[in-house]
Amino acid sequence: MKKTKKTPKKILVIHGPNLHLLGNREPQIYGNFTLENINKNLNTIAKKSQVSLNILQSNSEGEIVEKITAGGYDILIINPAAYTHTSIAIRDAILAVNKPAIELHLSNIYKREEFRKKSLISDIVIGMISGFGENSYYLALDAALKLLRSHK
Ligand code: DQA
Repeated sequence: MKKTKKTPKKILVIHGPNLHLLGNREPQIYGNFTLENINKNLNTIAKKSQVSLNILQSNSEGEIVEKITAGGYDILIINPAAYTHTSIAIRDAILAVNKPAIELHLSNIYKREEFRKKSLISDIVIGMISGFGENSYYLALDAALKLLRSHK
């Protein structure tokens, strides 16, 4: 019998507003690493795990909504940044596509200002990772890979 090649699973990673400034932005809170570096590491892990990664950084709520609702992925990993605390539109987009999603934050949002303690998506995602700096991204990708493997 002819072996059919499996199409690789697709993961969409979204970085919200101001995350393009990582490295320079409040390094005491967010660290010294750049977004480029995080993306490079994510791509290396994805390649090794034979999954396809699509990464978007956007400062625009509308663009993030469009990307989420355009589909074409099996699981979403999202750091909505400041939109975490304000965006009903991003919440609604995640609900609309009905795909598994993982939320992450570099900082521990519960250790910071009151207004950061409320996430508008935590109750609709599979799980949330917060407070591990750049490692939050790698932990989220690891969780996504395990979920994809368990739902073959
Ligand atoms: C953040 C936390 C948010 O409160 C903040 O607005 C960000 C980044 C984090 O990764 O720690 O921009 O999502």
